[in-house]
Amino acid sequence: MDVKERIIAELVAARDRSFGLTVEALEDPELTSQVSPLMSPLVWDLAHIGNYEEQWLLRAAAGAAAVREDIDDIYDAFEHPRAERPSLPLLTPAESRAYITTVRDRVIDSLEKVPLAGALAGDGFVYHMVIQHEHQHDETMLATHQLRKGAPALLDPPGSEPGRAAPGPDEVLIPGGPFLMGTSDDPWAYDNERPGHLVDVPSFHLDTAPVGNAAYAAFIEAGGYDDPRWWHPKGWEWRSSSGRSAPGFWYREGGQWMRRRLGRVEPVPMDEPVQHVCWYEADAYARWAGRRLPTEAEWEKAASWDPAAGRKRRLPWGDSGSAGDHANLGQRRLRPSPLGSHPDGASAYGVRQLIGDVWEWTSSDFTGYPGFRSFPYKEYSEVFFGGDYKVLKGGSWATHPLSGRPSFRNWDHPIRRQIFAGFRCARDA
Ligand SMILES: [Fe+2]
Repeated sequence: MDVKERIIAELVAARDRSFGLTVEALEDPELTSQVSPLMSPLVWDLAHIGNYEEQWLLRAAAGAAAVREDIDDIYDAFEHPRAERPSLPLLTPAESRAYITTVRDRVIDSLEKVPLAGALAGDGFVYHMVIQHEHQHDETMLATHQLRKGAPALLDPPGSEPGRAAPGPDEVLIPGGPFLMGTSDDPWAYDNERPGHLVDVPSFHLDTAPVGNAAYAAFIEAGGYDDPRWWHPKGWEWRSSSGRSAPGFWYREGGQWMRRRLGRVEPVPMDEPVQHVCWYEADAYARWAGRRLPTEAEWEKAASWDPAAGRKRRLPWGDSGSAGDHANLGQRRLRPSPLGSHPDGASAYGVRQLIGDVWEWTSSDFTGYPGFRSFPYKEYSEVFFGGDYKVLKGGSWATHPLSGRPSFRNWDHPIRRQIFAGFRCARDA
């Protein structure tokens, strides 16, 4: 498949996914109302996906005429914070579907004539950016579905049980030394992953798996939420003012932990990685366990460095291979895989489940790498550098495999819990 054929196939797949998450089985109010001030109405995400595509692939890359310049402002994420979006004169669900389909048809027609050369379209960059953007909004839409209380429930696809193996050691030693962080040559990489640069990481120990629900429940039983010793001062403030005392969507029923997941209620599976914890909770757990969160550099080294070959792998298990075989990504399952799953996805150091399952909080603040240049627009990354954001790595079960790479960087406020985030622990050697 050449680059343009691949682009078309990925555009089609992304759109199938977006329409799947905004199906007509959902009544219009489910699409147009706001389930939480943290999220957009689903119909905003849907038309925003098309407007972003119109601006970058039609107007910028193909030099084509605008379809709906008049709605640019409504769908500009920087003009309108999420809380404000329901009050905008949004397109209806039917209008949104028609609009993004018109844009898409024109993009496919124009692709033949656009040379994949130059800063924007070279190696397909701007197309890759737009495809990943659509999938990132699809993950955001899944977070909205998780917060939505009405029917219908989202159902797990059948026949997607992951391969499992006996758990290995709880932690491994990652010997000290330099590794290549980020990338300078991945045609799918965003500006914030560039440039690749050497970072010397001292020896440390890292958990071979994310922290599971059983271990997290033990932290709760031990009174972890009631002891300020374990909490960052701002975390204790958050804990006290929010009244939270368990991961998001958990509650107690007759001595058992239950959870609400995508419109259903079920017992919390104790062998799954914990998710819907904020950075402060992850940090408190780690301190209680006598450990700490890994830095972003530690995490990425453990996930991508091949010490025998002295080079970076594109993925933990090698340079290629379908993520579906090695990791739980792309909503093949609508939840994290149990601990010990995907032994084929282990990194060179024997660390498992780094990609997929849950985003992993790191101890690092979000900032630019040495030599960072914003491209193609400052609002993707640069405006967030130095803010109140912690870096998350590895993607979740809801992240598309196209963004499931060790160099990918996600970031969020340390109080956020609606994202599909968990963590693993590290300690100094
Ligand atoms: Fe966006």
